[in-house]
Amino acid sequence: MGQLLNTASLAVNAALQTRTAELESLEISARVAREALDLSEFVTRRKRGHTHIVTQATQRLEDVFIGLGFQIAEGPEVETDFYNFEALNMPKSHPARSEFDTMFLEYGEPNSVLLRTHTSPVQIRVMQTWPPPIYAIMPGRVFRRDTPDATHMPVFHQIEGLVIDRGITFAHLAGTIEAFTKAFFGSDFTSRLRPSFFPFTEPSAEFDIRRADGEWIELGGCGMVHPNVLISGGIDPEEFSGFAFGFGIDRMAKERHNVEDIREMYTNDLRFLRQF
Ligand code: DAH
Repeated sequence: MGQLLNTASLAVNAALQTRTAELESLEISARVAREALDLSEFVTRRKRGHTHIVTQATQRLEDVFIGLGFQIAEGPEVETDFYNFEALNMPKSHPARSEFDTMFLEYGEPNSVLLRTHTSPVQIRVMQTWPPPIYAIMPGRVFRRDTPDATHMPVFHQIEGLVIDRGITFAHLAGTIEAFTKAFFGSDFTSRLRPSFFPFTEPSAEFDIRRADGEWIELGGCGMVHPNVLISGGIDPEEFSGFAFGFGIDRMAKERHNVEDIREMYTNDLRFLRQF
């Protein structure tokens, strides 16, 4: 009888163990399923941004000028009075300074350090660093104490051009502006120069471009580099001559894409930016 009972007890215990193990493993699987984190990512279409229209315009300008044999240079956005004014033939009392609505920094001597009001100071830095011949463009951000409106921003972009070589004349300047106009805007555009005044060039001109529909658009300033400016840059005006030009990049992007209000380009509204 004892033997029988023992066999039965063993069988019952074995069955109990099997069933317990089964239930335990079921519970573990259920818990793993319950607590699982789905870390997989669903990728449908790659969404990428693109460059801003002002960056696009800068890059196209750089491409065109590189094609014409120019090199690219950059200068600091915080400048000294010397580079922004003095070296460009605008001494302390010069009336042209007042056109620039300068923002000064509280650093060093009062009114000696400023946010550059144009890219022209980079001309001086390039002349001081590279031995001529120089064929350079200098794009960058500039700052003026302007109230924002449809055509003005206190922070905007300019591109400066500088050529210094032996025997450079006004004809080279006019030819370069025309070649650039056609390469950038298309062969149905032309350019013209109008007499003007800038302290850093003599003679000076403003240049306009003519659209296919006949309308003239004012683009920027240019001229033959003033001998005083060459001297500031450490270049002998008896041996070398050159021309310079400068114009606004934001204005070009605005024209190209028919943007009505320049402020729209800086609100970072994706509905605006995605159009370009
Ligand atoms: N720096 C001038 C401005 O911001 C533009 C300019 C005019 C640049 C004539 C030049 C130049 O290089 O030759 O209004």
